Amino acid sequence: MSFQNISLQHQNTHSLITITRPKQLNALNKQTIEELNTALLALQDRNETRVVIITGAGEKAFVAGADIKEFADFDVAQGKELAAEGQRKLFDLVANFPKPVIGAVNGFALGGGLELAMSCHIRLASTNAKMGLPETSLGVIPGYGGTQRLARLIGQGRAYELIFTAGMVDAQKAYEMGLVNHVYTPEELLDAAAKMAGKIARNSSQAFASAIRAVNAGFEDGENGFAVEVEEFGKCFGTEDFKEGTTAFLNKTRPQFK
Ligand code: CAA
Repeated sequence: MSFQNISLQHQNTHSLITITRPKQLNALNKQTIEELNTALLALQDRNETRVVIITGAGEKAFVAGADIKEFADFDVAQGKELAAEGQRKLFDLVANFPKPVIGAVNGFALGGGLELAMSCHIRLASTNAKMGLPETSLGVIPGYGGTQRLARLIGQGRAYELIFTAGMVDAQKAYEMGLVNHVYTPEELLDAAAKMAGKIARNSSQAFASAIRAVNAGFEDGENGFAVEVEEFGKCFGTEDFKEGTTAFLNKTRPQFK
């Protein structure tokens, strides 16, 4: 698999996707979204990959947003299609990915960049990270799920403030708001993400997929999160991992999940 705008590396039990357009601050153009879609679909089927980490190349940016140059002359229909296709091919794919996805936010995460980070299940940030949804300064709104995911993560009032002011918060503030789980120095960030991936990978992948479906169901229209939890809990009892986990516990050994 060869890519121009991303790189894909496999390390033990996790895979690292790096967006590699540092000169454009890793802005998400159409091709980058296509490549991320292709890579994620491949990782979904790759048994050795139990956790995915997404980061940006260079020292300055995770992702500085959707590529403004690409949509500057779009009309209403094209604008709508941009958001719909992006959400389908990347942002919803990440949010509903059946394996844990960690966003390693290593600099600016703006607009579509913060939206990508918010689609990840867990966010870690470096001390130089700056996050915001500056779309209203361009005369648009966040279109890659930002109006929904930011309000869920930090509450409606604070989400409105960030959207209306088009402002940015630093890593410490993002941590205090619950927007990121941990903050590390830039040098530590990827090692910390890999360490977390290793810790996660000791547990059951089948249970991760169920947990992701149950947690996300609580935010879906027409879904009852508690009912989905009951369903997924039941399904776990039919998995190899359940047998392995409970047998290991009863035998006082460590489970070896496949
Ligand atoms: N799209 C396209 N190119 C971008 C970009 C973006 N989102 N962000 C940065 N770049 C490009 C710049 O145009 C510049 O390219 P050139 O060297 O060819 O001029 C290069 O990256 C470096 O950027 P700057 O010179 O601007 O770097 P800076 O350090 O002075 O500023 C910044 C950094 C504050 C992040 C600034 O680049 C910036 O404000 N970027 C745009 C952020 C933004 O508005 N993001 C939201 C995009 S809209 C969106 O995402 C919509 C959606 O929800 C679907």
